[in-house]
Amino acid sequence: MRISGLYRMTPDKRREEIAKRMQIDPSVFKGLDMRSMDIEDLDGMIENVVGAFVLPVGIAANFVINGRETPVPMATEEPSVVAAASRIAACTEDFTARCPESIMIGQVQILDVPDMEGALSSIDRNKDGIVSSANAVDPVLVSSGGGAVDIETRSLDTPSGAMLIVHLLVDCRDAMGANAVNSMAEAVSPMLEDLTLGRALLRILSNLAVRRIATAEARFDRERLGGTEVVDDIMNAYHFACADPFRASTHNKGIMNGVSAVVRATGNDTRAVEAGAHAYASLSGNYGPLTSYRIDESGDLVGRISIPVPVGTVGGITKVHPGARACLRILGVNSASELGCVLASVGLAQNLAALRALSAEGIQRGHMKLHARNLAIQSGASVDEAPLIVQRLIAEGKVSASRARDILLSLRGSK
Ligand code: MEV
Repeated sequence: MRISGLYRMTPDKRREEIAKRMQIDPSVFKGLDMRSMDIEDLDGMIENVVGAFVLPVGIAANFVINGRETPVPMATEEPSVVAAASRIAACTEDFTARCPESIMIGQVQILDVPDMEGALSSIDRNKDGIVSSANAVDPVLVSSGGGAVDIETRSLDTPSGAMLIVHLLVDCRDAMGANAVNSMAEAVSPMLEDLTLGRALLRILSNLAVRRIATAEARFDRERLGGTEVVDDIMNAYHFACADPFRASTHNKGIMNGVSAVVRATGNDTRAVEAGAHAYASLSGNYGPLTSYRIDESGDLVGRISIPVPVGTVGGITKVHPGARACLRILGVNSASELGCVLASVGLAQNLAALRALSAEGIQRGHMKLHARNLAIQSGASVDEAPLIVQRLIAEGKVSASRARDILLSLRGSK
């Protein structure tokens, strides 16, 4: 979404502008009101409820994903995240994103198998029967075009002995699918026990969703990023992450600053996506960055991300939590695959924003500038006054609310 100056508006004005621009009913934003849920609703969600924990939702601006302007709601406690993503999104024309598959994996662990080779081939011969009995559990998913589609097997040598691991591949369509997959894994385990003469123990979804990968790629304008030197240093920062897991961990944390904020805003499970992302980052045996970068022939920076996206737009709390419903409407996504595309694009932007800030100016300076701007606006400064206050706060090295107010009063007094 390319509305300029969103950061200068009041929250009400932002709602109005976004609704107008995206042609959505302004009442959608009511789902994000502080009192959109009452204590009875909350009490039905988890156990021993005593209240609610409120987080701000900000809209990242400037995202064009697969040719569509996309206002991105982000629920996060971390300052600068929304602004940083918005700023980097303005350095590219478009994010080209894809999320072609929606297959989740249910794992069944089988112990005490007397004849491993025989058991593996017995499962192989009976794949169709296993898939059909899994599908009998969830006719709704099947009628929506999804359901169990295949079986994979492996044997693992472990300190507890050999284990036969069955992967039940389930196309979850627009659901994240944890409930469907877990129910199917449980339902097929007696059959697997009969076929292997073993004992099924764990029957649970894997968050390493290698058959639900979203990718996004974008070309970022060299000048808008700050010039050739900045781009070269972004490459230096990227290569650091490639070579060092201590750095890669923080590099990926920056990606998840964006991804998790959108996952949370849309009522999805942040831990599932984070677990999947970090496991995927180490799939080669070395933990590495989820993004990659290269400089193209014209000196622009091309960034790319691949990330597992175990998320849904139906099921769970996505359709019942008023905030999640509102955020999905604001995003305008119609499927889990589209949501995956947004997550990948935001992750890429967030990562590049961090690398740019770290290599161009150091993260604290950027944070301080934003903090100073927030304080200036909170002190009541107008759009014209705010930059003067920010300049003075930064120059003095004392960025506080009281100093912002004093500077504002002195500016007004001197007119
Ligand atoms: C802070 O929340 C995230 C960063 O540390 C990410 C990074 O270092 O790439 C700035």
